[in-house]
Amino acid sequence: MASYLQIPDDEKGYELDVFCVPKHYEEDLDRVIIPHGLIMDRTERLARDIVRDMGTHHIVALCVLKGGYKFFADLLDYIKALNQNSDKSVPLTVDFIRLKSYCNDQSTNSVKVIGGDELSTLTGKNVLIVEDIVETGKTMETLLSLLSEYKPKMVKVVSLLVKRTPRSSGYRPDYIGFEVPDSFLVGYALDYNEYFRDLSHICILTEGAKEKYKV
Ligand code: IMP
Ligand code: MG
Repeated sequence: MASYLQIPDDEKGYELDVFCVPKHYEEDLDRVIIPHGLIMDRTERLARDIVRDMGTHHIVALCVLKGGYKFFADLLDYIKALNQNSDKSVPLTVDFIRLKSYCNDQSTNSVKVIGGDELSTLTGKNVLIVEDIVETGKTMETLLSLLSEYKPKMVKVVSLLVKRTPRSSGYRPDYIGFEVPDSFLVGYALDYNEYFRDLSHICILTEGAKEKYKV
């Protein structure tokens, strides 16, 4: 089992006013739970682990939109840095898929593919799926079973976050950045009804904000 950083249930995090948070979100957030710098440091190490394991064969990095886009971009930058600074390097191409399973703060039972590249291009490839957060595990299990129909050579999953929740199906990604408490998290591209993607740090959403941005 790969290592990851555990954020405990009683993690107090940091006061908002010791970091930079957009003015328009100040009322909606209690505390910063994972500062942007820590996300970057952990991502750098994930890049190293992935390159070590996936070897020198062409990797197709598949970004799960929209929530995965920041993590995807930063992870790939670190993989690129490894590629251009060592004797070994791994060719990297990118693909995108758009899935939707959430309404307000609830995971719905249906996971819909609502756009992205043609999956048949993944046949025979080493695929690295890049996701923001695994909660119940349904989204990833659905995507993995969909992908298997196209017969990739190898599939690995990296998720920046995994939630500790009784709603989990038991699914665990191959690489995990942080294991987090069972709260609704936003920032660093994780959204609540499309808001909070424009926040650098990962924060816990307040109950008041859930009402304010409800659809
Ligand atoms: P799962 O299918 O329950 O594992 O949910 C995975 C998807 O739900 C993720 O890809 C996210 O898009 C979304 N999600 C789950 N928990 C959160 C959260 O705390 N904040 C924002 N999005 C979340
Ligand atoms: Mg997602």
